[in-house]
Amino acid sequence: MYMRIIVAIDGPAGAGKSTIAKRVGEKFNLMYINTGSMYRAVTLKALEKDIHHSNMDKLCRLVDTMDMYFQNNELILNGENINDKLTLPYISNNVSNYASIKEVRHRLVAIQREMAEKYDVIMDGRDIGTVVLKDAPFKFFLTASPEERARRRYEELKLKKLDVNYENILDEIKKRDYIDCNRETDPLTKAEDAIEIDSTNMNIEEVVEKICSYIRNKINN
Ligand code: DC
Repeated sequence: MYMRIIVAIDGPAGAGKSTIAKRVGEKFNLMYINTGSMYRAVTLKALEKDIHHSNMDKLCRLVDTMDMYFQNNELILNGENINDKLTLPYISNNVSNYASIKEVRHRLVAIQREMAEKYDVIMDGRDIGTVVLKDAPFKFFLTASPEERARRRYEELKLKKLDVNYENILDEIKKRDYIDCNRETDPLTKAEDAIEIDSTNMNIEEVVEKICSYIRNKINN
């Protein structure tokens, strides 16, 4: 019998989720859904329109005007590819506040579930295994030490020729971890049935291979 492949990957900022999810997705021909970029897109548009995260009504109306889908691993918002802007520091510094709003989460979770109904997906985020795709047959929780995650983000931003400081990034990551893990709605936690992988001392290929072999084993048994 054909088994649907739905993969949930959760974990803190900078654990390597998106790089790994893209590679695993390619191997099994899955659509990659980066849910963080959806929260970032809301943040980008809200900041552009000067909508504070406490202004629930305006925020909900804004989200309702946002048509989002993924093409070639990237988010398309109202027909436009906005990915270049999504990882800019001013978005990273504000996204946790917008991602904490229950009404925003409900709307984005509904879109994410719709995507997983239509396609075989690999979806990464903070609440995929615990909330969005609770019944996913494959769940992974990817972690790494804050210092290692900060080092990776630093290298990534430096490649983009941005003026960055390691200590600031580390600080930023710790702050974001705190908000993501302590917010009221759907905080970051490992699903009971998720397989935890600590990638602090692993390279990308090793993590990809570990995840792929779990998936292959389950498909073949
Ligand atoms: O994965 P990322 O760093 O691009 O995520 C950006 C922010 O969005 C992060 O602070 C947590 C939040 N987020 C969330 O709350 N739930 C998700 N499913 C994905 C991201």
